[in-house]
Amino acid sequence: MGAQVHGTQDFDKVKRSEIKFSEEAMATVQKIISNYPPEKIKSALLPVLHVAQAEFGGWLSPETMDYVAEVLTIKPIEVFEVASFYTMYNLKPVGKCTLEVCQTSSCWLNGAEDIVRYIEKKLNIKVGETTKDGMFTLKTAECLGSCGTAPMLQCGASYHENLTFEKVDALLEQYKNEGRLRSYTDKDYHNTL
Ligand code: FES
Repeated sequence: MGAQVHGTQDFDKVKRSEIKFSEEAMATVQKIISNYPPEKIKSALLPVLHVAQAEFGGWLSPETMDYVAEVLTIKPIEVFEVASFYTMYNLKPVGKCTLEVCQTSSCWLNGAEDIVRYIEKKLNIKVGETTKDGMFTLKTAECLGSCGTAPMLQCGASYHENLTFEKVDALLEQYKNEGRLRSYTDKDYHNTL
């Protein structure tokens, strides 16, 4: 089933059988599901995918999407359609920290391009790439709604605003020291102005 749904991506039945939400994640998923009537369970898909992405390494593999479909009792293709539409879901492995630098008007006018070039040079990667140590992935994003404090970047649930090269240095150092996966569901997000 999965191999047909997910096209050319390999589908590993053994991996699929090993995928299971932790108790804590499943409790969160059940809470999300309870917000919707049973016939509208598909409406829970977006937040459940965020939980899945945070739980299974920062990306949604074909096996993870298949599992989410089972949990929500919907078709795997319905999960894939949504996951492949929104840029917040990663369909390929990413680093523990995905840096999303806003490149829209306000940020662009205030030096977003320089910030992107600076990070590229510092991490020795280009936009769309991941560092060899698996720590950072660099992306650009469209307006993240923080235009008044441009330039800015998002990493997981955290916003880092009024960016300077010095702030970027400190940020990368901090994330590297913490060394853990950052996700949109982080409860310990820290916004810096
Ligand atoms: S233009 Fe960058 S946050 Fe809006």
